[in-house]
Amino acid sequence: MQKRKIMEKIHWLGAVDWDRRLFDSLIPLPDGTTYNAYLIEGSEKTALLDTVDPPMAEVLTAQLDNVPKIDFVVSHHAEQDHSGTIPQVLERFPQAKVVATPKAKGMLMDILKIPENAFVTVQDGETLSLGDKTLEFIHTPWVHWPETMVTYLQEDKILFSCDFFGSHIATSDLFVTDQGRVHEAAKRYFAEIMMPFRNIIAKNMEKLNGYDIQMIAPSHGQIYDRPSWIMDAYQDWVAGDPHNLVVLPFVSMHGSTRKMVDHLTAALVERGIRVELFNLAVTDIGKLAMALVDAATIVVGVPTVLAGPHPLAAYAALLANALKPKVRFLSIIGSYGWGGKTVETLAGMIPNLKVEVIDPVLCKGLPAEADFASLDRLADSIAQKHKENGFR
Ligand code: FEO
Repeated sequence: MQKRKIMEKIHWLGAVDWDRRLFDSLIPLPDGTTYNAYLIEGSEKTALLDTVDPPMAEVLTAQLDNVPKIDFVVSHHAEQDHSGTIPQVLERFPQAKVVATPKAKGMLMDILKIPENAFVTVQDGETLSLGDKTLEFIHTPWVHWPETMVTYLQEDKILFSCDFFGSHIATSDLFVTDQGRVHEAAKRYFAEIMMPFRNIIAKNMEKLNGYDIQMIAPSHGQIYDRPSWIMDAYQDWVAGDPHNLVVLPFVSMHGSTRKMVDHLTAALVERGIRVELFNLAVTDIGKLAMALVDAATIVVGVPTVLAGPHPLAAYAALLANALKPKVRFLSIIGSYGWGGKTVETLAGMIPNLKVEVIDPVLCKGLPAEADFASLDRLADSIAQKHKENGFR
């Protein structure tokens, strides 16, 4: 794909990765992704903002064939899906300087072995004139590495946000065309990599409030030409109250834990609570992460195996602990055969979750009437706590 015009002297460059299905060998990408770079040609200087993932370097370098000069390569974020082709760009344009935060400079030197004399570092709020276009650099740490920044193009009121507000969708559409689809993909993206840093992201959002932003051009996914809805969505994800929602990841070996899960689900629904179930044997971990963005309560359904929690439940607990959702309550339900330390082991895996633990319900073998009654009491407790907190 050739470079595409966004407006006069501003072009999209980059690569659409239709085939990619996994990021960081961890994160599912059901819809592929894009690596967006942007070319801004001022009356005096030209800047390239970000590059592409190294396996797609040739796509970008071909797009640069008719570009007479690049004076600056702005690197918003040192992760290789955006920075990885900077060395090839510098080979083509050896006079170009890499513009980055001081932290990013060190990381780019470590990761890509870019020589120190190739860099110009910029402080928070610093500007760079391209002649009739002015780049303003806004440091936005932890979206989602410590060195990240965004660029505000003052004259055209465009925010180039790199991963911030991004979404993993491979598409030939330059601008957002299907808001529902992009909302889901952006939420998945937020859940998987931004959520652990939501408190500091809330501060970055406040910082952006001072800017008149008419367009957001991220480095993954489509460009937002009406950006207010994605900024509102981020505001809710980082700082909104949890919803009246129980997320119930579970695994069942012989059906006993599944009976408990189904009973609790019905009891919660009867009490007016939304429930999302995730069978960990088959689930898309990204979907679970998305549900955790809104959940007020997590209940883990887990059988005891080899004296501890089933490893799939342990994985989900580790993931939730790493993602640090704003969940407030947690409980554990499940069946065991003869004993073990399932609750203690799982509880030790979630030190990052600042949750109130509601009494677990464990049963020996197949659940009986008394166990179902305990599950009803658990549903009562959850309903009461959601009501007291006004979760809707
Ligand atoms: Fe898209 Fe954090 O890289």
